[in-house]
Amino acid sequence: MINENNNISFGNKDKKNNTQIINQNFIDNKNINFTVTPWEVKGDIDYNKLIEKFGTFEITTNIIEQFKKITGEIHPFLKNKYFFSHRDLDWILKEYQNGNKFYLYTGRGPSGLIHLGHLMPWLFTKYIQDKFNVKLLFQLTDDEKFLFNDKNDLEMIDIFTYENVLDIIAIGFDSAKTNIIIDTKHINYLYPISLEIAKRITFSTAKSVFGFSNSSNIGMIGFPPIQSAPCFLPSVIEKKPTPVLIPAAIDQDPYWRITRDIAEKIGYYKPAQIHSKFIPGLINNGKMSSSKPDSALFTKDDPELIEKKVKNTFTGGQPTVSLQRKLGGNADICPVYWYLKYLFDNEEESIQRYNNCKGGSLLCGDCKNDLIKDVKPFIKDIQRKREKAKDMIKEFMIDGKDLGHKDKK
Ligand code: TYM
Repeated sequence: MINENNNISFGNKDKKNNTQIINQNFIDNKNINFTVTPWEVKGDIDYNKLIEKFGTFEITTNIIEQFKKITGEIHPFLKNKYFFSHRDLDWILKEYQNGNKFYLYTGRGPSGLIHLGHLMPWLFTKYIQDKFNVKLLFQLTDDEKFLFNDKNDLEMIDIFTYENVLDIIAIGFDSAKTNIIIDTKHINYLYPISLEIAKRITFSTAKSVFGFSNSSNIGMIGFPPIQSAPCFLPSVIEKKPTPVLIPAAIDQDPYWRITRDIAEKIGYYKPAQIHSKFIPGLINNGKMSSSKPDSALFTKDDPELIEKKVKNTFTGGQPTVSLQRKLGGNADICPVYWYLKYLFDNEEESIQRYNNCKGGSLLCGDCKNDLIKDVKPFIKDIQRKREKAKDMIKEFMIDGKDLGHKDKK
């Protein structure tokens, strides 16, 4: 499959050589007081600055129109700029219109339970699968989560892998067009490709891209080609270079930069990406994260816990009702407003909510009640589908085999 003479060159719109821009990620930039890496997201993220820093491209109205030509509509995540940045999205849409179908590729590092933040890229991935009628590879990097955190053991990660698979299936992907790859179980599908990738990435590049140091364990250093490999697996499966589109939050971008740098050298297309923002945590500062349980609404939370977490959440409101009435609130920093905006309110409702909050006529308690009313049935529905998913696992696995967790039924 790998053809050194296969001169694939297209949509090569990286602003600089990818590995040159990568290390900016780890530079303490004076005007930038936030951090976004695959392992850490913190601070007040300025997404326009992030586009500049990472060397990605804004999703323009033209691209949204290109989408609309195919889907006949504009998905709210595009309209409200939840997905805000990309690489080669315009190219991949053009290829699709010319009959060159792409594969979708997304993933999860199974170090904990699934929260609303994780669901966002998956909901959009399902939407694209349905509208474009395309295949999906879904990778679970259990190896990554073992190697990158001293506290994680393989047994615990295996339990979360199973739990996460139920969530993935519950999203409603088409089993005939979706393959789940669990790294430690299905490494044979990835290993030959990952070797081709690893051979072409120097330690120096890996250090500047991922911030590895002398104290990083060598498993960490060797891991990135495993996450890159599914970018090229569709070409191996289809026996011809096949475009790949990756929907994910922008924290995963460093992986795609090194992948894009070497893709053409081994006869494959550079993977295209569509990047989302982060859903903030329920507690102040930072993204929703499974390592901070109080910051997240999990798909396994029961209704009482959901209600308690939402009631305790940080908001953009004033300390007292009278001050709120007088000064108004700050919806821009309010997670409750964000969840409602991105998951439940329509455009009109969201604008109205924003204005009423700012004008002081809407109180935080009102928004919290609205969120509780919407999020409880949403999570309950996922829980119902997770139960059904227990009987569907082997339909989704790339090797067609079950995971042997039947005892959890
Ligand atoms: P992980 O498990 O950290 O995250 C899974 C997916 O969820 C996104 N994400 C979020 N999106 C919005 N708001 C949040 N608060 C939030 N937290 C996480 C991530 O961007 C990701 O899309 N190394 C990866 C696993 C992986 C992968 C992939 C991810 C392997 N191959 C291909 C995306 C695409 C990881 O640990 O993701």
